Amino acid sequence: MKIIVTGGAGFIGSNFIFHMLNAHPEYDIICIDALTYAGNLSTLKSIMNHPYFKFYRADIADREAIYRIFESEKPDVVVNFAAESHVDRSIENPEIFLRTNIMGTAVLMDACRKFGIQRYHQVSTDEVYGDLPLDRPDLFFTEETPIHTSSPYSSSKASADLLVLAYHRTYGLPVTISRCSNNYGPYHFPEKLIPLMIANALNDKPLPVYGEGLNVRDWLYVEDHCRAIDLIIHNGKVGEVYNVGGHNEMRNIDIVKLICKELDKPESLITYVTDRKGHDMRYAIDPTKIHNELGWLPETKFADGIKKTIQWYLDNREWWEEIISGEYQNYYEKMYTNR
Ligand code: NAD
Ligand code: TYD
Repeated sequence: MKIIVTGGAGFIGSNFIFHMLNAHPEYDIICIDALTYAGNLSTLKSIMNHPYFKFYRADIADREAIYRIFESEKPDVVVNFAAESHVDRSIENPEIFLRTNIMGTAVLMDACRKFGIQRYHQVSTDEVYGDLPLDRPDLFFTEETPIHTSSPYSSSKASADLLVLAYHRTYGLPVTISRCSNNYGPYHFPEKLIPLMIANALNDKPLPVYGEGLNVRDWLYVEDHCRAIDLIIHNGKVGEVYNVGGHNEMRNIDIVKLICKELDKPESLITYVTDRKGHDMRYAIDPTKIHNELGWLPETKFADGIKKTIQWYLDNREWWEEIISGEYQNYYEKMYTNR
């Protein structure tokens, strides 16, 4: 089996590659990544010489480059993680989100049609369902919940999902889609809530909480997401959507306080800043379908996962310090100074 993994130099894609090389040592894994600001070759350093791993630097929206790779590699399965993934950046500059997340998905699926494929899997997000109100804890996103997006990011991901389903219906492309809740774990880029707060706390810098910090996210340890995708590409039904989430809802402020506690840093570092535009209040996944059909259940409890994650950031300072010492500084200044 030969699997193309796009976006494999990013957070979840890299964790998925490590998972697959471990769980299926006989599979060939081909990573395609454009190495944008979010992609890091140092993340893949340990497997660059692995006999069953190969890396191509290419943009998924570059049709010629993608066709060339498909023609020479002839993959059996494609798992598309490549995306612009940060909501705040999408609010600043939507265009690149449309190009990568929508056009890139179309190019990959055209390549699958042209060269043949057993499965195209689209890694999507619970954000396509919009948000839920805080005063209705009884409500959850199911696969039947209508698409109702809030940000340019979630709109671009929802557009891609619609295209994927259209390619299945129109061309019979064998597709599956997973819509997962917020992930956390190793190699998470430090622009996102959990790694940003860990890095800032370790540097005794202010911890910028948007609004009142009452927004709720449903956190899943990244390895549990990777196992879910592994199950879906092997046993999932073609044409189907699977929600992935671990019933672990947390308010932002409680996560930030927990990080302070674990790192023995004072809560006085917490700074409330201007809220995100259009900020989604609550995400909460109902994972009944993937549990019933594929037997998936999360294995890592948040209390353990957050400890492991914090320990990883303590043990791998050079990985994130290199990131935050570069172009990231301009980003941080633009987004957080006088906010
Ligand atoms: P990330 O930003 O850490 O990584 C994205 C990767 O894609 C990077 O390596 C980047 O270089 C690459 N990339 C970007 N544009 C590209 C292009 N045009 N061509 C080729 N490669 C390109 O993102 P992530 O958090 O690992 O998310 C991966 C996927 O999972 C995304 O599709 C995202 O929408 C989805 N997702 C993320 C979460 C989450 O909590 N992070 C939750 C659910 C779904
Ligand atoms: P984020 O990690 O960007 O994921 P998403 O917006 O895709 O869920 O943000 C998670 C939550 O944390 C979200 O409610 C916004 C909030 N947040 C902050 O309060 N401060 C920050 O500096 C960041 C990056 C996020």
